[in-house]
Amino acid sequence: MIRLDDIDVTFPKPGDANEQVHALADLDLEIADREFVCLLGPSGCGKSTALNLIAGFTSPTSGAVTVDGAAVTAPGPDRGVVFQEATIFPWLSVRENVAFGPKLGRGADRSGLHERVDELLERVGLAGFGDHLPSELSGGMRQRVGLARVLINDPPTLLMDEPFGALDAQTRITMQELLLELWERNRKTVLFVTHDIDEALILGDRVIVMTARPGSIRSIIDVDLPRPRSYDMITDPEYVALRQRLFEELRQEAQRADELMGVTHGGER
Ligand SMILES: Nc1ncnc2c1ncn2[C@@H]1O[C@H](COP(=O)(O)OP(=O)(O)O)[C@@H](O)[C@H]1O
Ligand SMILES: [Mg+2]
Repeated sequence: MIRLDDIDVTFPKPGDANEQVHALADLDLEIADREFVCLLGPSGCGKSTALNLIAGFTSPTSGAVTVDGAAVTAPGPDRGVVFQEATIFPWLSVRENVAFGPKLGRGADRSGLHERVDELLERVGLAGFGDHLPSELSGGMRQRVGLARVLINDPPTLLMDEPFGALDAQTRITMQELLLELWERNRKTVLFVTHDIDEALILGDRVIVMTARPGSIRSIIDVDLPRPRSYDMITDPEYVALRQRLFEELRQEAQRADELMGVTHGGER
């Protein structure tokens, strides 16, 4: 179980040490084991900051971050992180990239590593690409390598920060469906950050809508759509209703944020 308890995060404002950026305020969040939670909110609302707290890249200004009751103080092999740009070494082959972490002795054991790498490459759709260099791959394939690099350690938790955000629409859907397929086979605890409503709905057990900065939780929406999920569902009345609800949440939040900034909307007096 992952917990964020009464979290506040302020950063010194870049270029002006006297000013502060209040990134997160009074944030509470619980993610159960093997739950797939999507964190949804506009750019700049603090999604990455929240994920980085759990990853151990950032410390809270106040509040507690725990995984299974233990305070998070540093990154660890129990929490695999996937970013928008896959972290891969350009000079290593696909196979060497995937084997790199375990070879360093981090996370998973090394027995049968070669076989495990090849099996994983097949599962993420990279069978036959083991000897290729990253520069020979498309963006979607590079993200497959990035995923495999994390999955080879078999971490109980996956932290994904807009991992498909730079991909074209069709590739993004393919990658979402791949992630669902992998998760159905081996359910990990997932925190998935996105600003895309459909992505959140297709993937998540729950969607957590954040407020504008300073980020906090605006609402939590249970996604009771049946699994396995696919894009065939997007015309189901249940899906359409959830989509409408999330759209409305985001619209109202944007309006609230504008009003706080003194922007007025047409038709309001
Ligand atoms: N290391 C940092 N130093 C200063 N400000 C930061 C830092 N990291 C994030 N911020 C600021 O905190 C706010 C939230 O950022 P972030 O968590 O990246 O938002 P999101 O991922 O939702 O787009 C933004 O205003 C951002 O500029
Ligand atoms: Mg971000």
